[in-house]
Amino acid sequence: MAMWVQGVGRSGYRLLRRQMQPKQSKTAGMQRCGYRICLLRVLRLADLPTFAANRESNHSNQTINPQTDMRKKIVAGNWKMNLNLQEGLTLANELKAALAADAPACDVVICTPFIHLAKVADAVAGTVIGVGAENCADKEKGAYTGEVSAAQVKSTGADYVILGHSERRQYYGETAELLKEKVRLALANGLKVIFCIGEVLEEREAGRQNEVVGSQLADSLFDFTADELQNIILAYEPVWAIGTGKTATSEQAEDMHAFIRGCIAGRFGEQAAENISILYGGSCKPSNARELFAKPDVDGGLIGGASLKCADFKGIIDAWK
Ligand code: 13P
Repeated sequence: MAMWVQGVGRSGYRLLRRQMQPKQSKTAGMQRCGYRICLLRVLRLADLPTFAANRESNHSNQTINPQTDMRKKIVAGNWKMNLNLQEGLTLANELKAALAADAPACDVVICTPFIHLAKVADAVAGTVIGVGAENCADKEKGAYTGEVSAAQVKSTGADYVILGHSERRQYYGETAELLKEKVRLALANGLKVIFCIGEVLEEREAGRQNEVVGSQLADSLFDFTADELQNIILAYEPVWAIGTGKTATSEQAEDMHAFIRGCIAGRFGEQAAENISILYGGSCKPSNARELFAKPDVDGGLIGGASLKCADFKGIIDAWK
């Protein structure tokens, strides 16, 4: 088990079957080690550096790679509980102007407090900017004072919703089961879900990050179908890196993203794993975005603090150029 997890984490998960000698791959069975986890293809460790190097050079040279270029590159902002309505509209309009003058090379989404959604969605309608909520209810409708349903989010013109953010898990006690229900309702109402996963510092220090993230995926997402998964974007956000200024190294991010992609392959198949976008979040800024995004399994970022200033957010978006 330890070798299996390490192998996937360290090396980067490999999907390009044609590059593998038959004798170099074997299929690992369904693994259980106190938590639900997934079926993965395991490579001989000796072969892994070569595979990882091939993938990396493909990506950084921007060579067309039919496997990795089919998934979307995305930079999404999460405004959290910042900016009043007027400030939010000003920021949305600034970003709209900046991206009209200099088109992005990736998808761009801004996720705002509920009260901003309708006006921000109006302001950026017809542009490259997508709009999302930061949460939605786990109930369809009815007497749930203060809640906002997925259908209500969708009716504002928003197309995305962030679910499973560590701040919701930590401060509002959101469980895997509750999140599964929120995801179900969001998808049923035509929203794309940005689903967050990530370990806390103690879990990383104990070397349990793969176990924790694997469980978060399995417990909330593994009951959906591969079709439904097409409307889910994953965001790996190590909790110790959120708002702390302490970014995961690009190697730590790549290790985890490769592991996550392996989990998706095991449950939903290799095609689904190749197609799903996995964003990194946690103190991502213009100065480190390029290095993070150069990793083959990092498909963009979910940005907190740096999404609150147009120049910083644009700087991160430009890391895809
Ligand atoms: P920071 O970019 O402020 O660290 O926040 C990351 C985050 O939580 C995005 O959802």
